Amino acid sequence: MAVRLFEGKDHAAAYLQYRVAPQELVSTVMSFMEKRTPKPFNLALDVGCGSGQGTTLLAPYFAKVVGTDVSPAQIETAQAIKNPPNVSYRQCPAEELPFASGEVDLLSAMTAAHWFDHQRFLKEADRVLKPGGCLALLSYTMDMELEYGDISSTLNDICKEFYGALLPFRDPYIGKSSKKIYLDMFNSCSYPDKEWNECLRTKRNLPLSQYIGMVETFSSYQKLKNKDPAEAERLSDHIRNKLMSAMKVSSPETEVTMIMHYFYWLACKP
Ligand SMILES: C[S@@+](CC[C@H](N)C(=O)[O-])C[C@H]1O[C@@H](n2cnc3c(N)ncnc32)[C@H](O)[C@@H]1O
Repeated sequence: MAVRLFEGKDHAAAYLQYRVAPQELVSTVMSFMEKRTPKPFNLALDVGCGSGQGTTLLAPYFAKVVGTDVSPAQIETAQAIKNPPNVSYRQCPAEELPFASGEVDLLSAMTAAHWFDHQRFLKEADRVLKPGGCLALLSYTMDMELEYGDISSTLNDICKEFYGALLPFRDPYIGKSSKKIYLDMFNSCSYPDKEWNECLRTKRNLPLSQYIGMVETFSSYQKLKNKDPAEAERLSDHIRNKLMSAMKVSSPETEVTMIMHYFYWLACKP
């Protein structure tokens, strides 16, 4: 079973505005591939591409990159941005990819595979990958941290309050930890050449408003917003004000450092 979320136009627009692109991970994926996959690198598929922020990062390495997503709104949003000429998008489910068997050099899913029908997706990935082609599934934990002067631990207590308030709205399909889903998928992948990594920390300087906007793209926040829009807005305002007051600043555009904890697995089809 797969779960259909993230499909509204507003949600897709928020993705485009707030989601952070995992540049560091793309470099890691490419060095894994360089050692294994025969060149030329013709085709990369980024499955569950959302508004395409991770998809475009693959453009320099492949003749052609195709982002796929089940959501028409996400695909429309991705198509509307200025994309490199070798990047295109297609609407389709991850479990039924409209590509020939053995055609794909890299199949990636960035913060998306936990929503798929995991076993059907892995089977489909195996079908479309060429021998020597690679699979890269990556995601991050919800507990991003903030750094700001010497009050980082105060800010992180406030962030934990934010995440705690959203916990009851987490979708039962992903349960308490999406990491477990990825580990289960990793363990069920029969390729002998595979790697699991669960602690890649990335740092980004961004305005505080962008951190709040990013948490607002989470499915749990969106679920709260659908159920009780006023309460969702109150929660965001409360957390934003509390963070600004701890930082002793009056503008949500004040820059902070956000730390994300990525986990991922990579595998090469024999
Ligand atoms: C959390 S977003 C991640 C988007 C983007 N890859 C990123 O890194 O920000 C998950 C995406 O997966 C898509 N998705 C969920 N289930 C899907 C499925 N079964 N097939 C294809 N796409 C799916 C959603 O529409 C959404 O755009």
